[in-house]
Parts: sequence; structure tokens; C-alpha cells
Amino acid sequence: MSPLHVVILAAGQGSRMKSSLPKVLHPVAGKPMLHHVIETARQLGAARIHTVIGHGAEQVRASLEADDVHFVLQAEQLGTGHAVAQALPDLPDDARVLVLYGDVPLTGADTLAQLVDRLDDTRLALLTVTLDHPQGYGRIVRDDQDRIRSIVEQKDASPAQQAIREINTGILAVAAGHLKRWLPALSNANAQGEYYLTDIVAKAVDDGLTVTATQPATAFEVQGVNNRVQLAELERWYQKRQAETLMINGASLADPARVDVRGSVTTGNDLWIDVNVVFEGTVRLGDRVTIGPNCLIRDAVIAEGAVIHANSVIEGASVGPDAQVGPFARLRPGTELAAHTKVGNFVETKKAVVGEGSKINHLSYVGDALLGRHVNVGAGTITCNYDGVNKHRTEIGDGVFVGSNTSLVAPVTLGQGATIGAGSTITRDVDDHDLAVARGRQKNIAGWERPKKS
Ligand code: UD1
Ligand code: CA
Repeated sequence: MSPLHVVILAAGQGSRMKSSLPKVLHPVAGKPMLHHVIETARQLGAARIHTVIGHGAEQVRASLEADDVHFVLQAEQLGTGHAVAQALPDLPDDARVLVLYGDVPLTGADTLAQLVDRLDDTRLALLTVTLDHPQGYGRIVRDDQDRIRSIVEQKDASPAQQAIREINTGILAVAAGHLKRWLPALSNANAQGEYYLTDIVAKAVDDGLTVTATQPATAFEVQGVNNRVQLAELERWYQKRQAETLMINGASLADPARVDVRGSVTTGNDLWIDVNVVFEGTVRLGDRVTIGPNCLIRDAVIAEGAVIHANSVIEGASVGPDAQVGPFARLRPGTELAAHTKVGNFVETKKAVVGEGSKINHLSYVGDALLGRHVNVGAGTITCNYDGVNKHRTEIGDGVFVGSNTSLVAPVTLGQGATIGAGSTITRDVDDHDLAVARGRQKNIAGWERPKKS
């Protein structure tokens, strides 16, 4: 079959965004709109993706260097037809061409595959949708036998044409050979003085081609973004679908409208997710995981039965089976908690590998550390891992008990079964089963009289 080339129009300014960021780089679900479109093009098996850039070209280019993405500069924005024409030299004559828009981020790959399937040398395929309020869009003009004859832009449409509710989404598929004939012949003698891509429809009809139309399952799929209100509407639609996927796959959500997925989440069965939980990056959740309210979970693996209590932030970490985290815990990258561990309130961990059954229950910082099994780290324990220049490691053996308010000045090793007295500043290694106390000895003065106010 002839190769599929995707042309993405992304040169427009997007002035209604009121932003210094090019419109197509504004994110939906944490990812620039244009990246969504490119990913969809990849899913379709595009041989090459041509992105037409203009406004903010350098920023757009820098945001997505990739081997399969080819940038075409449209120095002046003279219309959608002119934009596609810029890519013509890079389109093989036998290619099938699919035109997408960088500011229409959420069209389903299945919808587009259907459109492309309609394509052959004798057919031009349009994606259209019927709207109650078609204002602003190009209208699909059909004859009395329901055959598509042309597209007329809002500003060029007669009152009768303006009453048409079937509109052009802008997305279409056509053979490159035809485009190479039609585009150089476009005229800009219209209300906007632009070279309209939509004028190729009338040319196709003149050349005896059939123009077919397919529709997406919902208008959201072809909704473009012109301002931040529309951006937020699309975000909510996308998040509603993400929440539904979570529920279909076995997670109960306290409120489907108050969970956001900015990335991908895989889930087991019987999960419970409370309100205001945000997932980012790649997250894997095992069976029976419970996540309390107000948690941020990014690039993490949480194993079956683990409980994440309210207001915890987990990033680049793995949490073992039946572990308990939070409330108010912060697990930073490189944290690996084994089964049945507990990391409690106001505890921060980083590059900390914590063995089975170990507990860090309150108010601690554990970084660059290896903890064995069944270690008990008392409240207020700090691994002093940074000397101002380099990071150093702390190793704690199985069964160690660290008393509260202890500073472990790394590099330092506590042998298995060791006990550290509360309030110690530990600067030297402690052997297995030893007790280390490193604090000023308590002195009591009998009958002490407090100073009196003079
Ligand atoms: C276009 C269609 C209209 C359709 C509507 C759907 C034309 C003439 N009209 O209208 O039928 O209903 O989209 O939203 O095609 N762009 C460039 N270079 C340009 C001009 C535009 O890259 O010179 C890009 C824009 O960045 C945008 C897209 O093309 O992503 C559409 O351009 P826009 O000006 O929004 O087209 P509309 O007038 O809305
Ligand atoms: Ca538009």
C-alpha cells in the first residue's frame, strides 16, 4: 500500500490564547497539544510526519526533535491551502496524505484510521461533524442527491449556506498526486484573501472524484482550541474519559471529576482512589491499593494492598505490598519501599531502599540510604548525607533501632541489631548489636533556684 504521510498544520499564531507560548505547545493532560497529534499520527503508522510551523517555529521545533518528525517552515500564514502546499516537495507522488491540525489534539486514532480507509485515487475523504451551532466553521455543501460539492467558509457563505449544520473539521485525507495538481492552482480571491485548503473539494468534484465524509463518535474529538476556555473544556472531557477507564479497569473513585491523569495509569482490581489525586508520567497500581485525598503520584509503582494516606507526594518511587505511606509523606526518586514498610507523616525519603517491615514513622529525612529489614527509625532522625560538596551513604542493618532525634552523619554504617540512643549525633560506624549513645551526659543540680526578677 502507498505510504501514509501526515501533514500537521501548526503555523498559526493563536492570538486568542494571550500567551507567549505557541498555541500548539499548550498542554492537555500535561502534554503539549501538538505532541498528542504526533502520537496519534504514529499510532496510524505514518511513514513521515510533516509539521508546518511558523509562529514560534523555533520553540515548537525545540519541543519535539524526533527522527520521524519533519518540520516545514511556513514563513507567512497565507491560509491552510498555502500551509499544506509548503509540504508538497516532501510528499512522494504515491503517498496518501492525512491533514491534521496541531490545535485539534484529541482525535482518536480509530476515527482517523476509518477516514484513511475510505481513501483511494478516486476519492477525497473528509471528517465532518454536525453541530447545533455551526458558526465560524466551513460548511459542507451537498447537492440534492446528498453528494458533497464544496466547502464554503463562514465568511463566504450565503444565508442559505450558513444554515447548513454539517461542518468541516479541517481534517481530510487525499492522494498526494491530486494535491500536487490542485494546491498550486488555488486562488485567494475570497473574503479572507487566503489560500483555502477547503477549495480542493470543489476541484476534486470538477475532476470527477467522489468526496466522502466520515464522522467522529463525538464532537470533542474534533474540537479545536482557540482560547483557554476551550482548552479547559477539552481537558475536562479527556479527564472524564481517563476516570472512566480507571473505573472500568477496577478502581473505585470517590469522585470521577476529581482525579486527573497526566500520563498513563495501569491498575489492578479493587482500588480505592479518593478525591484530588493527580497521576503523572507512568504509574502502576496493584490490586487493592488505596489512595487517600490530595495525593500527587508521578512515575511510581505501588504494589498490591499498599495504602497511601492523605496529602502524600510520591515521585520516581516504588512502594511494596501492604506498605503504608503518609499522611503527609514525600517519597522522592530512588525510594524503594519493601513489603509491610511504613513511612509516616512529615517523612521525606530520597534514594532510600527500605527493607521489609521497616518503619520510619514521623518527621525524618532519609536520603542515600540502605535500610535492612525490621528497622525502626525514631521520630526526627536525619541522615546527614551532604557535606556541602558530596553526597554520602548511610547503611542500616536488619533490626536496628534508631532513637528519636538522631543525626546519622554519612558515610556511616549501623551494624545489624544495633541500638542508637535518642538525641545522638552518630559520626562513626556502630558494630552489630552495640549500643551507641552520642550526646552530652545529663547533669542534675539538686535544689536549683531560678533567678528572680530584679
Ligand atoms: C479552518 C477551515 C474550516 C474549518 C475549520 C475547523 C480552511 C480555509 N477553513 O478554518 O473549514 O471549519 O478550520 O476548525 O481551511 N494554519 C497554518 N497556516 C496558515 C493558516 C492556518 O498553519 O496559513 C493552521 C492554524 O495554525 C490552525 C489550522 O491551520 O491550526 C486552522 O487554521 P484556522 O485559521 O484556525 O482555520 P479556520 O479559519 O478556523
Ligand atoms: Ca480554527
